[in-house]
Amino acid sequence: MRDADQTKTKLAGEPRRLRKQTITKKGREEQSNLENDLFQSLKRNPQIGVYLIRDGRFLSVNSYMINILGYTEEELLKMKVAQIIHPDDQGRVHESVSAMLQGKSTEPYEFRFLTRGGEIRWASETVNIINFQGRKTVLGSSVDVTDKIIARQKFAELEALEATILDSIPHAVIGLKNRRIIFANEGLYTVFGWKPEELIGQTTRILFRSDEEYDHGAVKNLYAILEAQRVFRTELTYRHKNGRDVICLVSCSRIGSGLKDRGIVVTYEDITERKKAEQKLALFHEQIRSHSAHLESAREEERTSIARELHDELGQLLTVLNMDLVLIGKKMPAGQPFLQEKIAEMIKLVETILDSLKRISMALRPDLLDHLGLAEAIEWQANNFHKHTGIPCKLSVEAGKLNIVPNLATAVYRIFQETLTNIARHAGASAVAVSLKASRERIILKVKDNGKGVTADEQAKSAAFGLIGIRERAYHWGGEVKIKGREGKGTTVSVSIPLPGKDETP
Ligand SMILES: Nc1ncnc2c1ncn2[C@@H]1O[C@H](COP(=O)(O)OP(=O)(O)O)[C@@H](O)[C@H]1O
Ligand SMILES: [Mg+2]
Repeated sequence: MRDADQTKTKLAGEPRRLRKQTITKKGREEQSNLENDLFQSLKRNPQIGVYLIRDGRFLSVNSYMINILGYTEEELLKMKVAQIIHPDDQGRVHESVSAMLQGKSTEPYEFRFLTRGGEIRWASETVNIINFQGRKTVLGSSVDVTDKIIARQKFAELEALEATILDSIPHAVIGLKNRRIIFANEGLYTVFGWKPEELIGQTTRILFRSDEEYDHGAVKNLYAILEAQRVFRTELTYRHKNGRDVICLVSCSRIGSGLKDRGIVVTYEDITERKKAEQKLALFHEQIRSHSAHLESAREEERTSIARELHDELGQLLTVLNMDLVLIGKKMPAGQPFLQEKIAEMIKLVETILDSLKRISMALRPDLLDHLGLAEAIEWQANNFHKHTGIPCKLSVEAGKLNIVPNLATAVYRIFQETLTNIARHAGASAVAVSLKASRERIILKVKDNGKGVTADEQAKSAAFGLIGIRERAYHWGGEVKIKGREGKGTTVSVSIPLPGKDETP
């Protein structure tokens, strides 16, 4: 403006029309020189591409352009600018250039260009109109932003991936910074009924049932715990937006290696239904157990009364019969060898019946259990097994004087009977080893055979009532059972039952 004023003063007095023309021309020249100088200095900048375009062709390019495009200066000056723009981007570049030249936009725009080697790269460009050598010329400047664009794309992909991963997790996931929620996934809605955008910026107080639970529940010590360990898991009851309780398995982990900015991620797995089902199942099991225990004790009682009847009634009568036969035998006049022999046979028979009776009543209710105790009853049973099956049954007892309640003794005895029956029926064993150990706290019975070995399938079959009975009896007394079969090597049944204190009997 000052230059123009000075010119005006100098030229004062000249004819009006001419003067105006001269001023315009001179001004234009000066302006043009200025822009030329500006362009020349810009051209030297090694960090940006600077070029002039006229009629769709390069008029001048700087070394940056030569470097990124891979063409020589002569080649570029012969080319149309459109040749280096990616065909798909030409329309867009054209629009952006027009908008910028018309002053409608000042934002640099990005497009793909092609290098001489055929590589596709990205440029960010701005354009201006300048007066160059007296003509309107486009001054362009651009920067190769390929690395930035790739990084941006990767970041966007990563962000999309992250969002997808987060939303594909069926649990609620939230990120906390200084106790405030900074992100949450869609699972938040599924678990708690809150939309992520409703809780961003808030604390998690709203998920708790009360202030106490929020302050007291793990939250209070959470940060301290996370200082020491990376992940912390717990089970807590929260409140759904609709007011109902939500039992969650919560897992908190800190973001990064330290607790900078108190950044943590918390996932909440809704286990309410699972918990309910577990409780129901446990109750159901309990009912079945007490039912089977009830049945068992009813059966035991019945057996006891039958055993007693057999022993007391029949046993008494047979004993009387036996004594009478002996008496008759003694009183029998000599010379009756046939009758003598018959009577001796009858006495034998009665003795056999008495033996059988004893065996049957022992099986029904081992009175040895009552009279002698568990260890002796087991010993008797083991010998009996050997006698009837021919399979030797080695017994080791480390039990001292066992002082256990009769019902528990019966349970252990019945378990032992079932294992022996199974060995006789299924194992094909040639030897059995039994050990009975008892301390103050536990009683442990182990029965080992060298037969074919029980398989997992055989154990699992629904008709395995014998094995189920073994387990039920042990569980009833709070014990546990391990049944291990090794193919061709045999089966081991171990039962371990805690001994109740003096005044607690289940
Ligand atoms: N000591 C063992 N050796 C080999 N197989 C066994 C033994 N004990 C049990 N089994 C297998 O396990 C199954 C289930 O046993 P159990 O529940 O007692 O039913 P049951 O004796 O009435 O068949 C048996 O049928 C048998 O196949
Ligand atoms: Mg059986």
